[in-house]
Amino acid sequence: MRYLKGNRVVLGVTGSIAAYKSAELLRLMVKAGFNVRVVMTVEAQSFISPLTLATISGEKVLLNEFSDDAYKIPHIQEARNSDIIVIAPATAQIISELACGRADKLLTAMVLAARDTPVLIAPAMNSAMWAHPATQGNVSTLFSYGYHFVGPAKGELACGEEGSGRLVDLPIIMEEIFYLLHREKALDGKRVLVTASRTIEAIDPVRYISNYSSGKMGYWLARVARRWGADVTLISGPSELSPPYGVKFVGVESASDMKEAILDHFNSTDILFMAAAVADFRPVYKYNHKIKKEGSGTLLLRLEPTVDILGEIALRKGNKVIVGFAAESDNLVENALQKMRKKNMDIIVVNKIAGDFSAFGSDFNEVTVIVKDGSSYVSGRVTKEEAAEFVIDKVVRLL
Ligand code: CTP
Repeated sequence: MRYLKGNRVVLGVTGSIAAYKSAELLRLMVKAGFNVRVVMTVEAQSFISPLTLATISGEKVLLNEFSDDAYKIPHIQEARNSDIIVIAPATAQIISELACGRADKLLTAMVLAARDTPVLIAPAMNSAMWAHPATQGNVSTLFSYGYHFVGPAKGELACGEEGSGRLVDLPIIMEEIFYLLHREKALDGKRVLVTASRTIEAIDPVRYISNYSSGKMGYWLARVARRWGADVTLISGPSELSPPYGVKFVGVESASDMKEAILDHFNSTDILFMAAAVADFRPVYKYNHKIKKEGSGTLLLRLEPTVDILGEIALRKGNKVIVGFAAESDNLVENALQKMRKKNMDIIVVNKIAGDFSAFGSDFNEVTVIVKDGSSYVSGRVTKEEAAEFVIDKVVRLL
């Protein structure tokens, strides 16, 4: 699977101090496998050298409509050949020019000449310039043309002032690009609930029982479900990962917290992806003071099963779709089918943990999607992002 690789991106860079960040943005695009053509305004070239961007993209940077290759009419050709046009950073000036339909520089001419190509604008300017009714009016005009905006973010600005005007973090721009490049929006209007990571079951105020789940698979499912158009809520146990952009986030700790959070959202859910590795046992007794080692000798912990969340949810299932997850080492299909029936799932996704391969903490996974009739689909070894795409694609097609 080549996840959205090979897409052709035009990256427009304009004259904001944040232009120095476009080198890093370009590097992320190249790393994602995009073919990027950079277009710079004259002002942008005062902030970052075209040579820097040419070296990273491996392509000549377009600076002027009428320099070389003019016979190819670059504003038409590049606009038509691209899958998306991203302007980052976008100044108040370029936003105003786009709103007026100006075509006196290569970048504005390209945007004007584009037909169905999505245009994503990441503004960066002083907060007063962003808040000015003239800029806001231009932004509304561009919204009405169907252009997309990401940011700006709040924070300290290059001029020393605080406010809304910073170029939004680059991973957020990348996520918006993936969202727009993902043309399949079969989950548009659907509400998707994803659970992720592990639960922790407290022993005392400083110790707990848990497992190795990192949350990576569930966080990718949440991001990818949004790319398919869904309105996504992610319920996560403790994790090192940052909450995905554009997704509602609910943080929980124990299995019973997770159950409560799911019940709060379940009525308005269409599809539940239960990817969390819920702890199966918890201490029967939770100490409310720290257990001291002196004088304790051998410490015996009595454990009891945690609540079976899917088991309880299954009773209220109705016509909602439940996708469960399991980690199996042997008798994969039989074991999974048994779990599926027991917990009233529609689909079960099995992570391979056989041999020396473990999905725990890894950026890679191999999943098998199993449906009620026993038919199964294997992803092969892929990144967790690709595994999430594989699972959601199957869920959309099978249901
Ligand atoms: N699950 C749950 N509540 C629990 C434990 C698990 O809802 N207390 C969910 C998981 O999120 C997963 C599915 O049930 O979607 C299967 O989890 P798994 O731990 O593999 O299944 P168990 O039935 O607990 O079986 P096992 O003995 O293999 O751990």
